[in-house]
Amino acid sequence: MPPDRPADQTVLITGGAGFIGSHLATALVSDNDVRILDNLTTGQRANVPDEATLIEGDCRDADALARVTDGVDMVFHEAALVSVQQSIDDPQQSHAINVDATLDVLEAARREDARVVLASSAAIYGHPERVPIPESDPKGPTSPYGLDKLTIDHYVRQYHELYGLETVALRYFNAFGPGQVASDYSGVISIFLDQALSGEPITVDGDGSQTRDFVFIDDIVQANLRAATTDAVGKAYNIGTGEAISIRELAEAVQDITVTESEIVHTEPRPGDIEHSQADISKAEAYLDYEPTVAFREGLARTAKWYRTQ
Ligand code: UD1
Repeated sequence: MPPDRPADQTVLITGGAGFIGSHLATALVSDNDVRILDNLTTGQRANVPDEATLIEGDCRDADALARVTDGVDMVFHEAALVSVQQSIDDPQQSHAINVDATLDVLEAARREDARVVLASSAAIYGHPERVPIPESDPKGPTSPYGLDKLTIDHYVRQYHELYGLETVALRYFNAFGPGQVASDYSGVISIFLDQALSGEPITVDGDGSQTRDFVFIDDIVQANLRAATTDAVGKAYNIGTGEAISIRELAEAVQDITVTESEIVHTEPRPGDIEHSQADISKAEAYLDYEPTVAFREGLARTAKWYRTQ
């Protein structure tokens, strides 16, 4: 068995000032030399741990990328435009940030012979034929975001096959936790908690029967640490919990945990929205020794607690 986390490595985290990247940086800084490349559009300087080096810049800026990748052993590529809706509003922007920038990162990693762990997404499956979804099931993304993630999920595998680069794609299901800042374009849990704690109505799109596999940030970090050391490279893994709940149930759980008077209101369904999403995580369990550790209610309670301090 390889070690369960990297040590004594020079590590680059793109998007390291953002939600997932900054948690990963925090987990890595004590044992590794951590560099962060972030253009601070959605990421925040305050998220970056003191021991990490932050370089403010874009992955598509060749000079900045060359500087941060010089001598690097591994790259966690978390920088992305994460909103499905934003990608529908502006597909070219999504392509530039999610695909073009990833190719630049892959080329830089190839020069350095650095391992790449990619943030891929469950959005690549589109409307699945069955749930839970194994990695091998058909891909039919319903948004530019999903299509972009599918493209780069393929690219990282090709870089392994063509150039022998050590690459791993992690297909995140719906990540949540402290540090995920609510905005029109952020994840539904952050939006619902923000609404509940400010006494606003909780806005469920459509009838709320759509389901998601919500995975707590600690488990997303765990998967990345395992992907950094595994021998099973050149593969893609689903990272979720293997369980799913409906958006309506989520709204009710948020009401309950925040003890809010906020009502649940139903709005128009979201165009291109995926109905059901739930990971089959047996491949990650088998190859990465990945195991979800934080139950949904506990994760929600920890996230709500963080929101109260904001
Ligand atoms: C999310 C991620 C995406 C990730 C994907 C993996 C965000 C912003 N997007 O997309 O990066 O790759 O999971 O599965 O984190 N909803 C409401 N009311 C709201 C907001 C959302 O009912 O106010 C509903 C949506 O219609 C959808 C569900 O909640 O059915 C989840 O939406 P969202 O959190 O935006 O995530 P995904 O589209 O699943």
